[in-house]
Amino acid sequence: MSKLAILGGTPVRSHPLPGYRTIGAEEQLAVEQVLASGALSRYLGCWGEMFMGGPQVRALEEEWSAHFGARHAIAVNSCTSGLMCAIGAVGIEPGDEVIVPPYTMSATVMAPLIYGGIPIFADVCPQTFCIDAESIQKKITPRTKAIMAVDLFGHPYNAPIINALAQKHGLRVIEDCAQAPGARLHQRYAGCLGDVGVFSLNYHKHIHSGEGGVVVTDDDDLADRVRLIRNHGESVAEGKGVKNLVNLVGFNFRMTEIEAAIARCQLRKLDNVNALRLENVHKLERALANIPAITLPVVHQGAQHVYYVHACLFDEQMAGIHRNRFVAAVAAELPVFQGREAEGVKISSGYVRPLYLLPLFQQRIAFGSQGFPFSLSPPEAQLTYAKGICPVTEQLHEHKLFLHEFIHPLMEEQDLLDVIHAFEKVWENRKDLL
Ligand SMILES: Cc1ncc(COP(=O)(O)O)c(C=O)c1O
Repeated sequence: MSKLAILGGTPVRSHPLPGYRTIGAEEQLAVEQVLASGALSRYLGCWGEMFMGGPQVRALEEEWSAHFGARHAIAVNSCTSGLMCAIGAVGIEPGDEVIVPPYTMSATVMAPLIYGGIPIFADVCPQTFCIDAESIQKKITPRTKAIMAVDLFGHPYNAPIINALAQKHGLRVIEDCAQAPGARLHQRYAGCLGDVGVFSLNYHKHIHSGEGGVVVTDDDDLADRVRLIRNHGESVAEGKGVKNLVNLVGFNFRMTEIEAAIARCQLRKLDNVNALRLENVHKLERALANIPAITLPVVHQGAQHVYYVHACLFDEQMAGIHRNRFVAAVAAELPVFQGREAEGVKISSGYVRPLYLLPLFQQRIAFGSQGFPFSLSPPEAQLTYAKGICPVTEQLHEHKLFLHEFIHPLMEEQDLLDVIHAFEKVWENRKDLL
């Protein structure tokens, strides 16, 4: 069994690993009840009782707000649309700069663009991989209006320092909590650490409703504006007597009653699935700690990580092989996740390519063909999206970081043992990979 599978040997395991699944009988029943009611969405895009949606949406919002301790929870049809609502609600205007991390899902960075905001990339922290406070500080200019802080991979962003910076410079903090439902910092839930937070309920997240999202805030005015943007604000403003029309061009970001009914069941499962995930992390880490070239995820003091993925560092010099080769060799030892063959991350070298390298930024083409909104950046801003602007992210992406999902709650003892065996086998035979 010592010949590596990537070199033609027998893999550690050939039958599929359990896929992650949280949908069960509760969700099925809840959906059936909504179907039986015949009312799959109760929204109306005008001011009145149904502007706020139907009973399932409203119940989800109440339960979400109670669970996370947020004054307002506003259901939307994705985290992407929630982020757009948040950017619109805080009043981002064309030409405003919004500081963003390059290591995140693209939606975080696209949201400012929708309102003509200009994303300015700050580097990430080499330990938690979340946006780095020192790097943010260097990027603040008189044009900066907001910071997008992402709780990346399940670790809460550095809220004490970043919020203080924001306060000092009069900036809004929008927290992208898509990957961290249930994470905490000093007893406060992630999602509720900034001025406004956004969760995702897409299929790949800890809990899901197929697609969906929830915006949370303690600020009454922001909540009001998010609700307007969610549901045709332009048609509602008059009836509701809204005076401030900035960014109220509305969308249809409404969640259906079916999704809301599923999301309510899922929310009740969140604590349990997070606890099981954490147990698996501990079990796996006890073994991975014996591989000297692997550095396990760091958890900052006072933080509770929820491990959307288990993101580790690999020391190429110590191992004597490239990270990509190591990761490919581990992947070859292990089968796909059942029912998720072409989906999600089994194990991967790095995360997304640093987002400033997307063609959109390289060619500065977002809306129309004339470079809007980048063209609004004054010459003294020296706007650049060149390779090298976030060296920590680039190093992580090209050489150091790998992540995997072998910690999900349905992985049992033998599954974890197989994963451990795969890592150990590759480590012990790494010279064969040279
Ligand atoms: C950090 C982050 N932000 C935003 C999103 C977008 O979420 P959604 O698919 O719900 O729009 C994701 C989804 O992968 C994400 O990981």
